[in-house]
Amino acid sequence: MNDKKFRPVFWDSDEDCLYILDQRKLPHKEVWRKLTTLAQVEKAINTLAVRGAPLLGIVAAYGVYLGVRKCRGGQKKFFKKLDEVIKRLGNTRPTAVNLFATLRRIQEAKWLSQSFSVDKIKQEIFNLGERILAEEEEQSYSIARNGADILDTSIRVLTHCNTGVLAAGGIGTALGIIYEAHRRGYVEDVLVDETRPLLQGARLTAWELQRWNIPYKIVIDSAAPSLIANGVVDVVIVGADRIVRNGDVANKIGTYSLALAAHKHRIPFIVAAPTSSFDLSLIDGEKIEIELRPKDEVLSFAGKSIAPPQARAFTPAFDITPAELISAIVTERGVIEKPDIHKISAHISRGSLAIDMAEL
Ligand code: MRU
Repeated sequence: MNDKKFRPVFWDSDEDCLYILDQRKLPHKEVWRKLTTLAQVEKAINTLAVRGAPLLGIVAAYGVYLGVRKCRGGQKKFFKKLDEVIKRLGNTRPTAVNLFATLRRIQEAKWLSQSFSVDKIKQEIFNLGERILAEEEEQSYSIARNGADILDTSIRVLTHCNTGVLAAGGIGTALGIIYEAHRRGYVEDVLVDETRPLLQGARLTAWELQRWNIPYKIVIDSAAPSLIANGVVDVVIVGADRIVRNGDVANKIGTYSLALAAHKHRIPFIVAAPTSSFDLSLIDGEKIEIELRPKDEVLSFAGKSIAPPQARAFTPAFDITPAELISAIVTERGVIEKPDIHKISAHISRGSLAIDMAEL
Protein backbone atom coordinates (compact mmCIF):
# COMPACT_ATOMS: atom_id res chain seq x y z
CA MET A 1 0.00 0.00 0.00
CA ASN A 2 2.59 2.57 0.93
CA ASP A 3 4.25 2.43 -2.44
CA LYS A 4 3.41 4.79 -5.23
CA LYS A 5 1.96 2.02 -7.42
CA PHE A 6 -1.36 1.33 -5.69
CA ARG A 7 -4.22 2.83 -7.68
CA PRO A 8 -7.94 2.46 -6.94
CA VAL A 9 -8.60 2.77 -10.70
CA PHE A 10 -6.44 1.96 -13.69
CA TRP A 11 -6.74 1.46 -17.40
CA ASP A 12 -5.84 -2.04 -18.56
CA SER A 13 -4.50 -1.71 -22.09
CA ASP A 14 -4.43 -5.47 -22.72
CA GLU A 15 -8.14 -5.79 -21.98
CA ASP A 16 -8.93 -2.24 -23.14
CA CYS A 17 -11.07 -1.45 -20.12
CA LEU A 18 -11.12 0.46 -16.86
CA TYR A 19 -10.60 -1.48 -13.64
CA ILE A 20 -11.91 -0.09 -10.36
CA LEU A 21 -11.54 -1.37 -6.83
CA ASP A 22 -15.16 -1.73 -5.70
CA GLN A 23 -15.25 0.40 -2.55
CA ARG A 24 -18.65 -0.96 -1.51
CA LYS A 25 -17.00 -4.28 -0.72
CA LEU A 26 -14.20 -2.91 1.45
CA PRO A 27 -12.84 -3.60 4.01
CA HIS A 28 -13.78 -7.26 3.85
CA LYS A 29 -13.22 -8.01 0.19
CA GLU A 30 -10.98 -6.51 -2.45
CA VAL A 31 -13.07 -6.88 -5.60
CA TRP A 32 -11.80 -5.39 -8.85
CA ARG A 33 -14.48 -4.59 -11.41
CA LYS A 34 -13.98 -4.31 -15.10
CA LEU A 35 -15.82 -1.37 -16.70
CA THR A 36 -16.27 -1.33 -20.45
CA THR A 37 -19.37 0.83 -20.94
CA LEU A 38 -20.70 4.23 -19.96
CA ALA A 39 -23.64 2.60 -18.15
CA GLN A 40 -21.23 0.63 -15.96
CA VAL A 41 -19.32 3.81 -15.10
CA GLU A 42 -22.55 5.64 -14.25
CA LYS A 43 -23.60 2.80 -11.99
CA ALA A 44 -20.19 2.63 -10.30
CA ILE A 45 -20.41 6.36 -9.55
CA ASN A 46 -24.06 6.31 -8.41
CA THR A 47 -23.58 3.39 -6.08
CA LEU A 48 -20.27 4.71 -4.70
CA ALA A 49 -18.26 1.77 -5.99
CA VAL A 50 -15.94 4.64 -6.98
CA ARG A 51 -16.14 7.81 -4.94
CA GLY A 52 -14.23 10.73 -3.50
CA ALA A 53 -14.08 14.05 -5.30
CA PRO A 54 -10.70 13.80 -7.09
CA LEU A 55 -11.33 10.18 -8.06
CA LEU A 56 -14.66 11.15 -9.61
CA GLY A 57 -12.79 13.69 -11.72
CA ILE A 58 -10.46 10.95 -12.94
CA VAL A 59 -13.17 8.38 -13.62
CA ALA A 60 -15.29 10.95 -15.48
CA ALA A 61 -12.66 11.23 -18.23
CA TYR A 62 -12.43 7.48 -18.70
CA GLY A 63 -16.24 7.37 -18.59
CA VAL A 64 -16.48 9.81 -21.47
CA TYR A 65 -13.96 7.75 -23.40
CA LEU A 66 -15.90 4.53 -22.80
CA GLY A 67 -19.09 6.32 -23.82
CA VAL A 68 -17.79 7.50 -27.19
CA ARG A 69 -15.11 5.03 -28.17
CA LYS A 70 -17.42 2.77 -30.22
CA CYS A 71 -19.23 5.66 -31.89
CA ARG A 72 -18.97 5.34 -35.69
CA GLY A 73 -20.47 7.39 -38.49
CA GLY A 74 -18.80 10.73 -38.91
CA GLN A 75 -18.24 13.92 -36.97
CA LYS A 76 -21.83 15.10 -36.61
CA LYS A 77 -22.89 11.85 -35.00
CA PHE A 78 -19.79 11.83 -32.82
CA PHE A 79 -20.35 15.32 -31.42
CA LYS A 80 -23.99 14.51 -30.69
CA LYS A 81 -22.95 11.36 -28.87
CA LEU A 82 -20.28 13.21 -26.93
CA ASP A 83 -22.85 15.78 -25.72
CA GLU A 84 -25.14 12.99 -24.62
CA VAL A 85 -22.35 11.17 -22.75
CA ILE A 86 -21.23 14.36 -20.98
CA LYS A 87 -24.81 15.07 -19.96
CA ARG A 88 -25.27 11.58 -18.56
CA LEU A 89 -22.11 11.73 -16.51
CA GLY A 90 -23.06 15.21 -15.31
CA ASN A 91 -26.25 13.69 -13.91
CA THR A 92 -24.54 11.06 -11.76
CA ARG A 93 -23.53 12.96 -8.62
CA PRO A 94 -24.02 16.72 -8.27
CA THR A 95 -21.80 17.95 -5.43
CA ALA A 96 -18.16 17.05 -6.12
CA VAL A 97 -17.02 19.64 -8.62
CA ASN A 98 -14.07 17.60 -9.90
CA LEU A 99 -16.40 15.54 -12.07
CA PHE A 100 -17.71 18.70 -13.74
CA ALA A 101 -14.22 20.17 -13.99
CA THR A 102 -13.18 17.15 -16.07
CA LEU A 103 -16.23 17.39 -18.30
CA ARG A 104 -15.52 21.08 -18.82
CA ARG A 105 -11.87 20.37 -19.61
CA ILE A 106 -13.04 18.10 -22.40
CA GLN A 107 -15.57 20.61 -23.70
CA GLU A 108 -13.03 23.42 -23.69
CA ALA A 109 -10.07 21.45 -25.01
CA LYS A 110 -8.37 22.83 -28.10
CA TRP A 111 -8.58 19.41 -29.74
CA LEU A 112 -12.36 19.29 -29.43
CA SER A 113 -12.86 20.83 -32.83
CA GLN A 114 -14.09 19.83 -36.26
CA SER A 115 -10.58 20.29 -37.57
CA PHE A 116 -9.52 17.09 -35.80
CA SER A 117 -10.56 13.60 -36.77
CA VAL A 118 -12.94 11.65 -34.54
CA ASP A 119 -10.23 9.09 -33.84
CA LYS A 120 -7.83 11.81 -32.75
CA ILE A 121 -10.45 13.31 -30.39
CA LYS A 122 -11.21 9.90 -28.88
CA GLN A 123 -7.49 9.39 -28.29
CA GLU A 124 -7.21 12.84 -26.69
CA ILE A 125 -10.11 12.10 -24.32
CA PHE A 126 -8.37 8.91 -23.25
CA ASN A 127 -5.07 10.75 -22.84
CA LEU A 128 -6.82 13.33 -20.67
CA GLY A 129 -7.98 10.55 -18.31
CA GLU A 130 -4.40 9.33 -17.97
CA ARG A 131 -3.20 12.91 -17.47
CA ILE A 132 -5.76 13.77 -14.79
CA LEU A 133 -4.90 10.56 -12.94
CA ALA A 134 -1.19 11.44 -13.02
CA GLU A 135 -1.90 15.06 -12.03
CA GLU A 136 -4.05 14.13 -9.06
CA GLU A 137 -1.47 11.61 -7.90
CA GLU A 138 1.36 14.09 -8.18
CA GLN A 139 -0.62 16.86 -6.51
CA SER A 140 -1.56 14.64 -3.59
CA TYR A 141 2.10 14.44 -2.57
CA SER A 142 2.40 18.23 -2.64
CA ILE A 143 -0.79 18.61 -0.57
CA ALA A 144 0.61 16.12 1.94
CA ARG A 145 3.90 18.02 2.30
CA ASN A 146 2.26 21.45 2.41
CA GLY A 147 -0.21 20.28 5.05
CA ALA A 148 2.35 18.51 7.22
CA ASP A 149 4.51 21.65 7.16
CA ILE A 150 1.90 23.64 9.08
CA LEU A 151 1.21 21.02 11.75
CA ASP A 152 2.67 20.88 15.23
CA THR A 153 5.14 18.08 15.81
CA SER A 154 2.97 16.18 18.25
CA ILE A 155 -0.68 15.91 17.29
CA ARG A 156 -3.85 13.98 17.94
CA VAL A 157 -5.82 14.36 14.74
CA LEU A 158 -9.44 13.74 13.89
CA THR A 159 -10.64 13.14 10.34
CA HIS A 160 -13.94 12.51 8.61
CA CYS A 161 -15.07 10.37 5.67
CA ASN A 162 -12.36 8.92 3.42
CA THR A 163 -9.86 11.23 1.78
CA GLY A 164 -6.99 8.86 1.09
CA VAL A 165 -5.65 6.78 -1.76
CA LEU A 166 -9.15 5.44 -2.40
CA ALA A 167 -10.62 8.90 -2.88
CA ALA A 168 -7.93 10.70 -4.78
CA GLY A 169 -5.13 8.49 -6.04
CA GLY A 170 -1.56 9.20 -4.91
CA ILE A 171 -1.83 9.40 -1.14
CA GLY A 172 -5.02 11.39 -0.96
CA THR A 173 -5.79 14.81 0.48
CA ALA A 174 -6.57 15.12 4.21
CA LEU A 175 -5.45 11.55 4.81
CA GLY A 176 -2.35 12.22 2.70
CA ILE A 177 -1.39 14.95 5.17
CA ILE A 178 -1.92 12.51 8.03
CA TYR A 179 0.30 9.93 6.27
CA GLU A 180 3.04 12.49 5.75
CA ALA A 181 2.73 13.80 9.32
CA HIS A 182 2.95 10.23 10.58
CA ARG A 183 6.03 9.60 8.43
CA ARG A 184 7.64 12.65 10.07
CA GLY A 185 6.79 11.30 13.52
CA TYR A 186 4.25 14.00 14.39
CA VAL A 187 1.17 11.85 14.91
CA GLU A 188 0.28 10.60 18.37
CA ASP A 189 -3.23 9.45 17.59
CA VAL A 190 -5.72 9.34 14.71
CA LEU A 191 -9.43 9.45 15.44
CA VAL A 192 -11.57 8.36 12.51
CA ASP A 193 -15.23 9.39 12.33
CA GLU A 194 -17.24 6.37 11.23
CA THR A 195 -19.10 8.68 8.78
CA ARG A 196 -22.72 7.66 8.71
CA PRO A 197 -24.57 6.42 6.80
CA LEU A 198 -22.18 4.70 4.37
CA LEU A 199 -19.27 4.42 6.81
CA GLN A 200 -16.50 5.69 4.57
CA GLY A 201 -14.47 6.33 7.75
CA ALA A 202 -15.03 3.01 9.52
CA ARG A 203 -14.69 0.95 6.32
CA LEU A 204 -12.32 2.81 4.03
CA THR A 205 -10.15 5.16 6.10
CA ALA A 206 -9.65 2.38 8.63
CA TRP A 207 -8.73 -0.02 5.80
CA GLU A 208 -6.15 2.44 4.50
CA LEU A 209 -4.64 3.28 7.90
CA GLN A 210 -4.39 -0.39 8.71
CA ARG A 211 -2.48 -1.05 5.52
CA TRP A 212 -0.07 1.75 6.38
CA ASN A 213 0.33 0.41 9.92
CA ILE A 214 -0.88 3.66 11.44
CA PRO A 215 -2.72 3.18 14.75
CA TYR A 216 -6.22 4.68 14.80
CA LYS A 217 -9.47 4.61 16.69
CA ILE A 218 -12.92 4.74 15.12
CA VAL A 219 -15.38 7.07 16.83
CA ILE A 220 -19.06 7.54 16.14
CA ASP A 221 -19.77 10.82 14.36
CA SER A 222 -21.84 12.22 17.18
CA ALA A 223 -18.95 11.70 19.66
CA ALA A 224 -16.53 13.89 17.76
CA PRO A 225 -17.65 17.36 18.96
CA SER A 226 -17.52 16.28 22.59
CA LEU A 227 -14.09 14.70 22.09
CA ILE A 228 -12.93 18.06 20.76
CA ALA A 229 -14.51 19.78 23.77
CA ASN A 230 -12.78 17.33 26.11
CA GLY A 231 -9.37 18.24 24.72
CA VAL A 232 -8.44 14.91 23.14
CA VAL A 233 -8.12 16.35 19.63
CA ASP A 234 -5.45 18.88 18.59
CA VAL A 235 -6.43 19.37 14.96
CA VAL A 236 -9.24 18.38 12.57
CA ILE A 237 -8.26 17.67 8.97
CA VAL A 238 -10.90 16.97 6.30
CA GLY A 239 -11.21 16.96 2.51
CA ALA A 240 -13.58 18.86 0.24
CA ASP A 241 -16.01 18.11 -2.54
CA ARG A 242 -16.29 21.72 -3.66
CA ILE A 243 -14.69 24.95 -2.49
CA VAL A 244 -16.28 28.15 -3.75
CA ARG A 245 -14.96 31.67 -4.23
CA ASN A 246 -15.38 32.92 -0.66
CA GLY A 247 -13.86 29.75 0.83
CA ASP A 248 -17.07 27.97 1.86
CA VAL A 249 -16.57 24.22 1.62
CA ALA A 250 -18.94 21.40 0.74
CA ASN A 251 -17.84 18.11 2.24
CA LYS A 252 -19.32 14.91 3.63
CA ILE A 253 -22.27 15.46 5.94
CA GLY A 254 -20.99 15.89 9.48
CA THR A 255 -18.09 18.14 8.53
CA TYR A 256 -19.91 21.30 9.63
CA SER A 257 -20.42 20.09 13.20
CA LEU A 258 -16.69 19.34 13.44
CA ALA A 259 -15.88 22.84 12.21
CA LEU A 260 -18.24 24.39 14.76
CA ALA A 261 -16.70 22.38 17.57
CA ALA A 262 -13.15 23.14 16.44
CA HIS A 263 -13.96 26.86 16.28
CA LYS A 264 -15.63 26.88 19.68
CA HIS A 265 -12.74 25.05 21.32
CA ARG A 266 -10.03 26.91 19.39
CA ILE A 267 -8.29 24.09 17.61
CA PRO A 268 -7.29 24.30 13.91
CA PHE A 269 -9.77 23.09 11.33
CA ILE A 270 -7.89 22.31 8.12
CA VAL A 271 -9.38 21.51 4.71
CA ALA A 272 -7.19 19.73 2.17
CA ALA A 273 -8.04 19.62 -1.54
CA PRO A 274 -6.46 19.91 -4.96
CA THR A 275 -7.26 23.02 -6.98
CA SER A 276 -9.50 20.81 -9.16
CA SER A 277 -11.95 20.95 -6.20
CA PHE A 278 -12.41 24.72 -6.49
CA ASP A 279 -15.46 26.17 -8.20
CA LEU A 280 -14.95 29.85 -8.85
CA SER A 281 -18.30 30.14 -10.63
CA LEU A 282 -20.10 30.22 -7.26
CA ILE A 283 -19.63 33.10 -4.85
CA ASP A 284 -20.62 31.25 -1.70
CA GLY A 285 -21.74 27.85 -0.51
CA GLU A 286 -25.45 28.56 -0.64
CA LYS A 287 -25.75 27.64 -4.31
CA ILE A 288 -23.87 24.35 -4.11
CA GLU A 289 -26.18 21.51 -4.99
CA ILE A 290 -26.24 19.03 -2.14
CA GLU A 291 -26.77 15.46 -3.22
CA LEU A 292 -29.68 13.61 -1.66
CA ARG A 293 -28.98 9.90 -1.40
CA PRO A 294 -31.50 7.04 -1.61
CA LYS A 295 -33.58 6.80 1.60
CA ASP A 296 -32.56 3.19 2.21
CA GLU A 297 -29.03 4.29 3.01
CA VAL A 298 -30.41 5.90 6.17
CA LEU A 299 -33.42 3.71 6.89
CA SER A 300 -31.48 0.47 6.81
CA PHE A 301 -28.17 -0.79 8.10
CA ALA A 302 -26.08 -3.58 6.57
CA GLY A 303 -29.00 -4.42 4.29
CA LYS A 304 -31.57 -4.64 7.15
CA SER A 305 -34.36 -2.19 7.71
CA ILE A 306 -33.94 -0.29 11.00
CA ALA A 307 -37.00 1.95 10.96
CA PRO A 308 -40.77 1.41 10.79
CA PRO A 309 -41.93 0.64 7.24
CA GLN A 310 -43.60 4.05 6.86
CA ALA A 311 -40.59 6.02 8.07
CA ARG A 312 -39.44 8.86 5.84
CA ALA A 313 -35.89 10.16 5.76
CA PHE A 314 -33.98 13.29 4.87
CA THR A 315 -30.73 12.25 3.26
CA PRO A 316 -28.25 15.02 2.37
CA ALA A 317 -24.84 13.51 1.67
CA PHE A 318 -22.88 16.73 2.17
CA ASP A 319 -22.96 19.92 4.20
CA ILE A 320 -21.46 23.38 3.84
CA THR A 321 -18.83 24.68 6.20
CA PRO A 322 -18.58 28.48 6.05
CA ALA A 323 -15.14 29.91 5.39
CA GLU A 324 -15.10 31.75 8.72
CA LEU A 325 -14.81 28.40 10.54
CA ILE A 326 -11.82 27.25 8.47
CA SER A 327 -8.29 27.85 9.75
CA ALA A 328 -6.57 26.91 6.48
CA ILE A 329 -7.14 25.34 3.09
CA VAL A 330 -4.19 23.30 1.84
CA THR A 331 -3.75 22.69 -1.88
CA GLU A 332 -0.92 21.39 -4.05
CA ARG A 333 0.14 25.01 -4.47
CA GLY A 334 0.42 25.92 -0.81
CA VAL A 335 -1.69 27.07 2.11
CA ILE A 336 -4.52 29.61 2.25
CA GLU A 337 -4.75 30.71 5.86
CA LYS A 338 -8.13 32.01 7.01
CA PRO A 339 -9.54 31.77 3.48
CA ASP A 340 -11.52 34.59 1.94
CA ILE A 341 -12.48 35.65 -1.57
CA HIS A 342 -9.28 37.64 -2.19
CA LYS A 343 -6.88 35.00 -0.95
CA ILE A 344 -8.65 32.28 -2.93
CA SER A 345 -8.68 34.30 -6.11
CA ALA A 346 -4.95 35.06 -5.77
CA HIS A 347 -4.15 31.42 -4.98
CA ILE A 348 -6.05 30.02 -7.95
CA SER A 349 -5.10 32.58 -10.58
CA ARG A 350 -1.40 31.96 -9.87
CA GLY A 351 -1.39 28.55 -11.55
CA SER A 352 -4.17 28.62 -14.12
CA LEU A 353 -1.84 29.22 -17.08
CA ALA A 354 -0.04 25.95 -16.39
CA ILE A 355 -3.30 24.02 -16.78
CA ASP A 356 -4.19 25.80 -20.02
CA MET A 357 -0.78 25.09 -21.50
CA ALA A 358 -1.07 21.38 -20.74
CA GLU A 359 -4.20 21.16 -22.86
CA LEU A 360 -2.65 22.67 -25.98
O1 MRU B 1 -19.84 10.45 -0.90
P1 MRU B 1 -18.35 10.34 -1.03
O2 MRU B 1 -17.79 9.15 -0.34
O3 MRU B 1 -17.89 10.46 -2.46
O4 MRU B 1 -17.84 11.63 -0.26
C1 MRU B 1 -16.46 11.88 -0.22
C2 MRU B 1 -16.11 13.03 0.64
O5 MRU B 1 -16.94 13.75 1.15
C3 MRU B 1 -14.66 13.33 0.79
O6 MRU B 1 -14.42 13.91 2.04
C4 MRU B 1 -14.25 14.33 -0.29
O7 MRU B 1 -14.65 13.87 -1.55
C5 MRU B 1 -12.80 14.56 -0.31
S1 MRU B 1 -11.98 13.21 -1.09
C6 MRU B 1 -10.34 13.45 -1.15
